[in-house]
This record gives sequence, structure tokens and C-alpha cells, in this order.
Amino acid sequence: MRKQVLAEDSIDGDDIWRANNEVKLYRAIDKNIDGAQWIATPYSCFQDARNLYMFMEFAQGGNLRDLTGRYGRVLTSDEARFYVGEIAQGLGYIHSLGIIHGDLKLENVLIDGTGHVKLSDFSCAMTMDAIPELWHGTIEYTPPEIAKFRGYFDHTVDWYALGVLMFDLMAGHLPFWTANRSPEERVKLRRQVTKGLCSIRWPSHVQGQAKYFIRRLMRRDPRKRLGANCPFGIASLREPTEVLSHRFFDGVDWDTIQPPESYAWNFHSEDDTAA
Ligand SMILES: Nc1ncnc2c1ncn2[C@@H]1O[C@H](COP(=O)(O)OP(=O)(O)OP(=O)(O)O)[C@@H](O)[C@H]1O
Ligand SMILES: [Mg+2]
Repeated sequence: MRKQVLAEDSIDGDDIWRANNEVKLYRAIDKNIDGAQWIATPYSCFQDARNLYMFMEFAQGGNLRDLTGRYGRVLTSDEARFYVGEIAQGLGYIHSLGIIHGDLKLENVLIDGTGHVKLSDFSCAMTMDAIPELWHGTIEYTPPEIAKFRGYFDHTVDWYALGVLMFDLMAGHLPFWTANRSPEERVKLRRQVTKGLCSIRWPSHVQGQAKYFIRRLMRRDPRKRLGANCPFGIASLREPTEVLSHRFFDGVDWDTIQPPESYAWNFHSEDDTAA
């Protein structure tokens, strides 16, 4: 994949910051330890006068937004359980390395040739000892404590974003969104995010443990958010036990679970993108 960031008039400073940040964060990811299977493996990168090139493992199934878009329907809670559970394990892995993803969303979750999840796009990622002054993540997935311009945040921002992502998968739209990107609409959106879930309408099929789980992940108070007690920066603890022990995941065997059949790809060869 090529990221074009240098010597381009149309590219602003933020894009350059994100590209450089991504390279830095990928270097911090230890692909040799257990858990690295959840990350689209970076191979190498180099730059010439115009471009920064990043080579990484090819995720044949594309991203999770394309996957759901292709089938044109929302996911059942059984289907969502597979993707959300695997993403949670990926977050457990990067959190154990002391890394916050900072931009978890459907577009940044890739699917490999066997239908399993790969986290990607570390352009907004950060370590707790190097928190950027500006928040670079996507506002629709940003937790209230940041939308309100409050300074402090921690790894629970990723758990909050997982709740938004699961809502999106099951409802077919984001919990907070705006039809256009005008400054007025952006302010309204920020207000909606700050108010939290009390102001949204739930689709009737998002119910039971799936709904409780989303609500727990999206708690406004980060200290009460599901995942607040998951370890961070402890290399030996990669299992996000607090999240995976929620009743939504009751009975799942993570070693044998398979991607939902209704979303299975039939690839004819290793470079078939099924596009
Ligand atoms: N390793 C990969 N294998 C397959 N597809 C990939 C891979 N990396 C990225 N993509 C595709 O490219 C898209 C954009 O990649 P990425 O999220 O890394 O860049 P970005 O800076 O966010 O770009 P954009 O602003 O267009 O989202 C992904 O949503 C995915 O569809
Ligand atoms: Mg992206």
C-alpha cells in the first residue's frame, strides 16, 4: 500500500503527522509475541521525494465496512459476536504493549483470506508516554471525555470505540452522525456525542445482552466503562478478560470459533480480492 504524503500541495500537516506516526507505532508493535495475529503485519517502509511507502500483509477480505456493505444487511448478534470478540482480542494485544489505537472504526478493521480480523491503520495510535496535543481520531467514534475537550484519557477510548463499531455493525448506521460536514453540524455532532446514548434510538433487533454490552462499552464515565479494568502496558497480560467475560460472549470458544458462514468469502486464489 502506498501513502502519498510528501511534496503534495493538497496534503496538510495533519496527513504528514499521521503517516510518520503510523510508521513509528508499527515499529513499536512486537510481531513476534503471541497476539500479533490480530494485526495486519507491517513488513517494511521507505520514502522517496514524493511518497512514503509502507509494505504490509495483504488482507484479502478488505475492510469490515466493505464486507457489510457488500451484503447490504446488518449483522445479527451472533455474527457481530465473532468480529467484535476478535477485535477485542486485538485491542488486548496492542494494549498489552502500551499502545492505544485511537481510531478504531469499521474501515480500519481488515479481514484476512480466512475471514479473521486484522487491526490496521495506526496513524492515530499513541503510547501513554507520548500523547499528542491534538486528538486525531474520528469524531463519531470519539468518547465524550474527549469530545468535551477534557484533557485526560486512557486506553478506554478504544473500548468506547468498540461499542460504537458494534452499534454500527448491528444497526447499519452510527449512533451519532450528521448528514453533512458543515461547521454547525459538526458542533451538533459533538454535542450528541457528549450527551451519550440517552439521546439515541435503538433499532428493535439490537436487544438483550448485545445491547447491554454496547451500553457498557459506551459508558460516559471512562472509569465505569467496560474495559476500564483491562490491563494496559503489561506485556504478559494480553487477554482483555473483563470485556470477554461479559455475558454477551457466554459459551464462546475462542480457539474454535469460525467466521459467520453468511459472510464467508470464496477466494479463487491468493490475490483474488473478490472485488
Ligand atoms: N494491508 C491491507 N490489505 C488490504 N487492504 C488494505 C490494507 N491496508 C489498507 N487497506 C485498505 O485501504 C483502506 C485505507 O487504509 P488505511 O486505513 O490504512 O489508510 P487511511 O490513511 O485511513 O486512508 P483513508 O483516509 O482513505 O481511510 C482500508 O480501509 C482498507 O480498505
Ligand atoms: Mg483508515
